[in-house]
Amino acid sequence: MISTHGSASAKIILFGEHAVVYGQPAIAIPIQDVRAFAAVSIDASVTKPIIEAKDLQIEATLGQAPYPEAVIPIIKVIELIDQNIVKLPKSGWRLTVWSKIPIGRGLGSSAAISIAIIRALTKSMMKFLSPKELIKYSFELEKIHHGTPSGIDNTVISLEKPILFRKDHEPAPIQPASMFFVVGDTGVSKKTSEVVAQVAEARAQNPEQYDHIFAQIGTIARQGSLALKEGDAKRVGKLMNENQLLLQRLDVSSPELDNLIDAARVKGAFGAKLCGAGKGGCMVAVAKDGTTANIIASELLKAGAARSFTTRLK
Ligand code: MEV
Repeated sequence: MISTHGSASAKIILFGEHAVVYGQPAIAIPIQDVRAFAAVSIDASVTKPIIEAKDLQIEATLGQAPYPEAVIPIIKVIELIDQNIVKLPKSGWRLTVWSKIPIGRGLGSSAAISIAIIRALTKSMMKFLSPKELIKYSFELEKIHHGTPSGIDNTVISLEKPILFRKDHEPAPIQPASMFFVVGDTGVSKKTSEVVAQVAEARAQNPEQYDHIFAQIGTIARQGSLALKEGDAKRVGKLMNENQLLLQRLDVSSPELDNLIDAARVKGAFGAKLCGAGKGGCMVAVAKDGTTANIIASELLKAGAARSFTTRLK
């Protein structure tokens, strides 16, 4: 084993959340400069591996359950690696995990943390996974966290490329033209599994109506992928607005999200929608250029966003 680092990006869903769980296509992009990190350090004085959740200043010793709540997701990743990928030494190392991705805001923090740890620990054992293997193992972890995930989060984060994703299909990388996006965080944390379960319950009451909405969202995602490739930001914005109307009909928006989405549109965004599971978390807007994106980002803060940032698709 050697000392190493691993990291993984955040992600945003531009089109198709929720409908993707029911087999419709969706588009996700990585946000490369917002990341989760893991570091393996070799330390001969460590008799049992030490796990540290640095942001929370919580430490645990591997093999000494019960574990503090915050380190359980980290332990699950270690167990998966040890049982399925490579046997890890029983002593002599420490794993430190930290993240710049806010938790429960639709930015893929759980998948990014899992992937950063897999990258660091496998590298420390000189074991190199293919993108396909990384997607497979991180999906196993997503199922533990989210119940019935589509797999879009761990796939886009494993590949760190914009993708058109469809459950049980090979992800299709898309080559978007340059475009400017703004993300606004409501500051409200929401568990993806809860919102996905809420949609599943509502669909069980009214399958035809829900499947029709999902199909409409799927059509928007396909059109969105063309508009992204063509660099047609106006069209991307129009499609984002249409997607948001359908997400509202699924009852996954919230007053806080609607407020930030309105603020972005008033300041000149071509379009805006929630991104991720909704009921809190983040929204995303598309802007004409970098200057407009910066204006929208500061307007979102004035409108009550906990944070906002711009990201450029090249
Ligand atoms: C979460 O980022 C997106 C959802 O569609 C759930 C999923 O695809 O697993 C809400």
